[in-house]
Amino acid sequence: MHWLRAPEASDAADIHRLISRCPPLDLNSVYTYLLLSEHFRQTCIVAGAEDRLLGFVSAYLRPQRPDVLFVWQVAVHAEARGRRLAHHMLTRLLRREALARVAYIETTVGPGNRASRSVFERLARDLSAPLNESPLFDAGLFGGQSHDDEPLLRIGPFRSPGRPASASAR
Ligand SMILES: CC(C)(COP(=O)(O)OP(=O)(O)OC[C@H]1O[C@@H](n2cnc3c(N)ncnc32)[C@H](O)[C@@H]1OP(=O)(O)O)[C@@H](O)C(=O)NCCC(=O)NCCS
Repeated sequence: MHWLRAPEASDAADIHRLISRCPPLDLNSVYTYLLLSEHFRQTCIVAGAEDRLLGFVSAYLRPQRPDVLFVWQVAVHAEARGRRLAHHMLTRLLRREALARVAYIETTVGPGNRASRSVFERLARDLSAPLNESPLFDAGLFGGQSHDDEPLLRIGPFRSPGRPASASAR
C-alpha cells in the first residue's frame, strides 16, 4: 500500500535520487528539490511504500493565473510503474483545498514520451476536459544541450475535485 503526502525538506535528497533514475527527466540540484519541498509543498506530492520514495510530482500555480496548475516533473520509480501511481498523485493533488480554484493543468511532454502522454490523456478523460497541444519551448531554446521540443499540453477547463459543491462554477 502506498502513502501520499506533501514533501518535506528531508525528502529532497531522495527526490533527487529518484529523478536521477527517471530519464528523460532533467536532473535538477538537490537545492531545487529543497526549495520545492519547502516553498511549494502545497502544490507538490511524494508517494512511497514503507520507507521508500517511489513517486514525485512537482507543480506550481502560475503567477497571475491561480487557476492554472503547471506540472513540472512527474516521476515514478521503475519498480512502481504501470499501476497508475502518477495518476493517483495528480488526482490527490487536485483534491487539496489549496487547489480548489484550479481549472486548468498545463505541462510539457516530449513528443516521444508515450507513458507521460498516456498519463495526461487519461487525466483529461477522467476530468471530462479537453486536452490541447501547442508549441512552447522549442529544442533550439535549450542552447548547446541536445533536448527535444517541449510542447505545451493544456487540460481544461474542469471543475477541480477539491472545489466545494456549493462554489459556483467559473
Ligand atoms: C511517465 C510516468 C510518470 C508514468 O507513471 P506510471 O505511474 O507508471 O503511469 P501509468 O501506470 O498510468 O502508466 C502510464 C504508461 O506507462 C507505460 N507503462 C505501463 N507499465 C509500465 C512499466 N511497468 N514500465 C514502464 N512503463 C510502463 C504504459 O505505456 C502506460 O500507458 P497505458 O496504460 O496507456 O498503456 C513514469 O513512466 C515515469 O516516471 N517515467 C520517467 C519519467 C517521465 O518521463 N516523466 C514524465 C515527464 S512529465
